[in-house]
Amino acid sequence: MTVTITSQGDVAIVTIDNPPVNATSQAVRVGLMDALTKTERDSAVRAVVLTCAGRTFVAGADVKEFDTEPVPPHLPDVVAAIEAATKPWVAALHGHVLGGGLELAMGCHWRVAMPQARLGLPEVTLGLIPGAGGTVRLPRLVPPQTALKMIAGGKPITAEAGLKFGLIDALAEDDLRQTAIQFAKAAQEPRRSLSKPVTGARDENFAKVAAQLAAKARGQQSVTAAIAAVERAIDMAPEQALAAERTTFLGLKASPQAKALRRLFFAERATLNDPRCKGPARPIDRVGVIGGGTMGAGIAAACLLRGLTVTMVERNAESAAAGAARLHAVVESSAKRGIIVDTRPVLDRFETATDYAALADRDLVIEAVFEDIDVKCDVFRQLDAVLRPDAVIATNTSYLDINTIAATLRDPSRAIGLHFFSPAHIMKLLEIALPDQVSDDVVATAAKLAKRLGKIGVLAGICDGFIGNRIMSAYRREADYLLEDGASPTQVDDAMRAYGLPMGVFEMQDLAGLDIAWAMRKRRAATRDPTERYVDIADQLCALGRFGQKTGKGWYDYDNGMPVPSKKVDEIIAKARSSAKITPRRFTADDIMERILAALRSEAAAVLAEGIARSADDINVVMVNGYGFPRWTGGPITSSG
Ligand code: COA
Ligand code: NAD
Repeated sequence: MTVTITSQGDVAIVTIDNPPVNATSQAVRVGLMDALTKTERDSAVRAVVLTCAGRTFVAGADVKEFDTEPVPPHLPDVVAAIEAATKPWVAALHGHVLGGGLELAMGCHWRVAMPQARLGLPEVTLGLIPGAGGTVRLPRLVPPQTALKMIAGGKPITAEAGLKFGLIDALAEDDLRQTAIQFAKAAQEPRRSLSKPVTGARDENFAKVAAQLAAKARGQQSVTAAIAAVERAIDMAPEQALAAERTTFLGLKASPQAKALRRLFFAERATLNDPRCKGPARPIDRVGVIGGGTMGAGIAAACLLRGLTVTMVERNAESAAAGAARLHAVVESSAKRGIIVDTRPVLDRFETATDYAALADRDLVIEAVFEDIDVKCDVFRQLDAVLRPDAVIATNTSYLDINTIAATLRDPSRAIGLHFFSPAHIMKLLEIALPDQVSDDVVATAAKLAKRLGKIGVLAGICDGFIGNRIMSAYRREADYLLEDGASPTQVDDAMRAYGLPMGVFEMQDLAGLDIAWAMRKRRAATRDPTERYVDIADQLCALGRFGQKTGKGWYDYDNGMPVPSKKVDEIIAKARSSAKITPRRFTADDIMERILAALRSEAAAVLAEGIARSADDINVVMVNGYGFPRWTGGPITSSG
């Protein structure tokens, strides 16, 4: 049974049991209506506790049902019926109280939560707005601005914050069920969220938050729809606001953006559905990180923040101190962002060393030293000499051939690529690059690590740049062709931002620095296919020392940190066009994006054909989570935008 009723004295306990996350599937909705009828009828019942079995309260509507016709009873009706009950209902909340789960809880008359519970309305991230009264009830329980942030921003709040704002009535210290029962015993008349007035008017701060959220939406319709829904909840009578909410919800549910976001939701959870990830894995508690630069410090922090123990090895005491300082800064910033409460227990699990022997007890070592094949091979050899034979050895290389690096080991089957993205403690993506000889249990270990770090692991084959960087190289090449064909850097960057990317390709290069890619192009010059079209504008910029923001000039000139189009760059581009005998043509923003996306899709097709990526869905997951492609398109391969 998905919904059962037990009792303790005159309190009925209604329990939802619908693993894995107690989604409000049809069976749950039917069960709840049935429980409501029974408890209303049963004169021995004075009050009701609504609780969930398993690891969480209801984490939302069943996303799988969104692609089919809604089947009654509908969730808004279930919530309304519970709210209308004549006996008090107390929601006992633990784990994730999200979407339809929070809407159900707000239909109850009291809410008691475990302190670790998270409460939120993340529908906006699925291209929707709450559809079961969430937008109308929440502004009656928490301040308008908080409601706006939760509904249009989609980020959950802690139970403690919920208590402070008025969404939660009490926190349960240990026994949630007993606390809720005590609450139910003491409860008098039902106290209905919808009967309360809204907590405040829409003021200037509300407008400011709304404007910030709308600006961040970058083309995602659900955000503006969510803002409008909260505004209606504040301005209109609740019945009208509820009806408008439902209409908007149903309209959005069928929209291409919501469909794309749903596909991405399941794609992100399916990346490790591969037989190689399912078998037994090796332990991963004790990690070694080689190199304490940008990536080494970020990777060490990612591990420490998730409870692992880390030893960082650097070249000498000075570099080790610099690496430790970088790591400390990342951990401290995580504390400021509220990710951890106290830095001390995290830093207690960290140490630095300059001798590889310090890694003798490590389960897994990840190298993040300079991007140079000889340096990396040398590091692998040194690791081979000191590590336990069952320890996994990983490289964070961006482009280098992992088969060559693995071949330096006596047992290459324990080598794997773990390609983190910068900043490594924040970015969700982890490309797991599989060299030819890697053993299945090493792949399973990498998959376990991805989950442990809260990252989305995507399996990739070995090639220059794996999935993401390889596709991005093709995409950058096309942007260079566009310059030579007649577009300006500003036009290309504007077109990309209008498409929904956070930044254009040229601004991005100015931010990251042009010198590293230049060095790589020089290295590859000798082996480049001479028949391939090659645009040397970037090389000319570098030859002039225009390395981007760090030198004050790059694709743009910088005036007080603001990019302005550069006459010098325009001259270089004009000369390149004339020496390539190209008559510049005009491009619209759509033309530009069409060319860039076509290049990207053609490279993606090659990546698939060569078996570098398992599926188009995996490629979309990579481009969205590693390279800022707008989520609401579902990724560039199944783009609807
Ligand atoms: N509907 C259907 N299935 C869901 C679901 C939902 N709302 N939420 C989670 N699932 C499924 C996942 O697809 C996954 O299935 P799988 O094991 O077959 O791959 C399983 O539940 C576990 O989810 P996962 O995300 O891997 O677990 P987690 O512990 O990392 O995270 C949540 C748990 C609840 C935080 C996360 O699943 C989540 O954010 N879910 C969506 C919440 C939401 O948006 N609700 C509003 C819906 S309108
Ligand atoms: P970085 O220059 O910031 O750091 C490299 C660190 O490695 C330095 O602190 C250096 O002292 C140390 N080091 C060099 N040789 C060493 C050795 N033999 N033993 C111990 N330490 C040694 O470089 P980074 O940006 O952190 O990049 C590191 C690796 O990560 C590269 O392979 C790079 O391609 C890859 N990567 C970088 C990014 C990024 O955005 N920076 C993203 C993904 C992957």
